[in-house]
Amino acid sequence: MEFDQLVRRRRMVRRYDPNRPVPQPLVDKLLGHAVRAPSGGFSQGWEFLVIRKAEDLESLWKLSWNTRGDSTATEAQRRSEAYRARGFWVTAPLVIWALSDRDRYLDRYAQGDKGWTDRSESRWPAAYWDMDAGAATLMMHLTALNEGLASCYIGLSPKTIPEFKDTFGIPDRLHPVVGLTIGYADEDEPPRDLSDRRRPLGDMVHEGRWSDPATR
Ligand SMILES: Cc1cc2nc3c(=O)[nH]c(=O)nc-3n(C[C@H](O)[C@H](O)[C@H](O)COP(=O)(O)O)c2cc1C
Repeated sequence: MEFDQLVRRRRMVRRYDPNRPVPQPLVDKLLGHAVRAPSGGFSQGWEFLVIRKAEDLESLWKLSWNTRGDSTATEAQRRSEAYRARGFWVTAPLVIWALSDRDRYLDRYAQGDKGWTDRSESRWPAAYWDMDAGAATLMMHLTALNEGLASCYIGLSPKTIPEFKDTFGIPDRLHPVVGLTIGYADEDEPPRDLSDRRRPLGDMVHEGRWSDPATR
């Protein structure tokens, strides 16, 4: 697909054909493109957990937000559960989770050409390790669309992370940043029209110095 078109057509698709697995060459391509994302200092502090066996997918959905009987659950959490009941996300035959490895960045930036030998996190303007995992995920999201697949980002509740790591045997040093559900789209509904909610570019772009859109 032509690049401008790909960017403009990109959207999250939350329901998939559960009987149509993603062919191995496409899984390889998604992961191959993920690691073409830029990374601070070329640290490449990312890892990818590929979840596609039925029992593993089942475990994932079981441990992710379950608000039944939870009086503290927010309305948004309850709505999220109702979506799942409609087959959102859970019909995906493939989930790829991007995990960040902060130590790889601290190690890399302690090397001679960078010289941050104290490995202090206070030197970092932002958590590059999580940013780069996000960038790798975006590469997979765009690649999926370009290959006729569909995908959606998904997150874990912080409370669930220990169980997620335990279930999938993830080492302590890694942080599960974000997941991507991937498959062939199975949506009969038209895509959500977000145009009313899209912030105007002029509100977000500040030319030269900060300007308040209200007083422009
Ligand atoms: C970091 C991140 C986390 C997200 N988490 C979820 C999620 O847990 N569930 C979901 O349905 N969508 C999730 N999304 C998708 C956003 O809701 C979506 O991108 C946004 O509503 C705009 O819609 P569009 O991407 O279809 O244009 C996430 C997106 C990002 C970038």
